[in-house]
Amino acid sequence: MSNMTNGSTDEVAKNDAAPATTILLTKKPGVAAPMSVVTGPPGTAVTASKTACIRTFGCQMNVHDSDRMRRMIRDAGYAEVQRYEDADLVVLNTCYVRENAVDRVRGHLGELNRLKKEGRVKKVALTGCIGAANESRELEKKYGIDLILGTHNTYELAEFVGLPGMEETFTPELPGTEGEHSAFVTIMTGCNYQCSYCVVPSVRGRMVCRPMENVVEEIRRLVGSGTRYVTLLGQTVDAWRDPAGSGERFCDLLERVADEAPRVWFTTSHPSNMEDRTLRLIGEKETIVGRLHLPVQSGSDRMLKVMHRGYKSERYRRKIEVFREAVPDGTLSTDIIVGHPGETETDHEETLKLVEDCSFDSAYVFKFSPRRGTEAAALSADPSGTVPEDVAQRRFMEVLRTVEQNAFRRNQGKVGSVEDIYVRHGRTGDGKAVGETWSGHAVHVPTEAQPGRYVTAKIESAGPHVLYAGDPAGRPR
Ligand code: 5AD
Ligand code: SF4
Repeated sequence: MSNMTNGSTDEVAKNDAAPATTILLTKKPGVAAPMSVVTGPPGTAVTASKTACIRTFGCQMNVHDSDRMRRMIRDAGYAEVQRYEDADLVVLNTCYVRENAVDRVRGHLGELNRLKKEGRVKKVALTGCIGAANESRELEKKYGIDLILGTHNTYELAEFVGLPGMEETFTPELPGTEGEHSAFVTIMTGCNYQCSYCVVPSVRGRMVCRPMENVVEEIRRLVGSGTRYVTLLGQTVDAWRDPAGSGERFCDLLERVADEAPRVWFTTSHPSNMEDRTLRLIGEKETIVGRLHLPVQSGSDRMLKVMHRGYKSERYRRKIEVFREAVPDGTLSTDIIVGHPGETETDHEETLKLVEDCSFDSAYVFKFSPRRGTEAAALSADPSGTVPEDVAQRRFMEVLRTVEQNAFRRNQGKVGSVEDIYVRHGRTGDGKAVGETWSGHAVHVPTEAQPGRYVTAKIESAGPHVLYAGDPAGRPR
């Protein structure tokens, strides 16, 4: 069973939730590539003679970073291929949240090493969160990796592929994907928290916020080129402050963006930064999707302290009350870790109680996994505090079941309602498109409509994770 109960996003990477995405570039002699000519820097056309493949693991931040790297590689004259063996250059853009993420990447590196020995792949680059971690040195030696980049120096890929240095332009200022129906816009990078279990502060560094005007300009450009859905991204988006010193906070930015874009969402938020004004804004602004992802991690104040989360469960509950009141039909998701070192049965029961009280619409539930260099990893070296695997597994299932029961009940309440559904992915194998209501519910709907279009349909049934709509009325908009 997956550890995810819905398709929401998170603070960092969720490998189970986000399948590896392949972004491939260039044409190798003898390979029927989809593009033989790619656009280079403005005003030039480059005939592709080289091939590349970027594979992305993990979260939306990584997908976004891959997008940037794809542009550099395109500018350097590479074109798309579908398989490693057809690529001159392979870039693995990786995630480091849980141990199995590294294991998964090792499998890919082993295969690439073999292809290099056979002379099929020429260069391998490892980027992203694993690239930024100490472990990358061992991987570099073992698998003969040619280039290792962290999350802060991905611009160096430009030089590696033969473009002039891009240090100045390759910062969070660089725009996201333009001209597509939905775009991710990074408003801040890094994180100033020090949660006991988390590698993000060490691999992504401290918080850096993008200036308000810069974000708004990018969104105008995106909307002008056809983007219909903008997601503001960051590890703790609600900690955003205007670095230009205007004193503006996340709620001000969100309000501006909601006036510019036709559909807006944001992730991830931190309970200590979340302001009631932001929660009310979600309910007030028609363009903001009524979905809140607010990781709680534990329902026990003792564990929240051990984790250095900086809030008590009471604050979290109050925030949820404000959200439920401001956005009555909205959806609420969270992240929960079970089995953190020191977690007792009483702590676990408090988590179950909080899950019951908040009645989440979905949750990502994680079994604690020790990450090298974190405080919790050191704690887990002492067997007296560790939670045995069978206990962690039971707690995991108990939390998951409680979330699913509540989510199922809430979803049942949507049956019979008529919804405007935004199509996120076109028709899948079963002939249904995957869409999203304004309340943030995931819906399967039988339509040919392309991503970025709206259809109106009645909800006919519901499961714990998704709603099922009937045939839409009228034409897609
Ligand atoms: N073990 C288990 N879960 C973790 N997360 C982050 N680090 C760990 C870890 N070491 C979870 C947290 C976070 C989500 C993105 O991943 O719940 O919010
Ligand atoms: Fe990691 Fe905590 Fe920062 Fe989230 S808030 S990215 S869990 S350190």
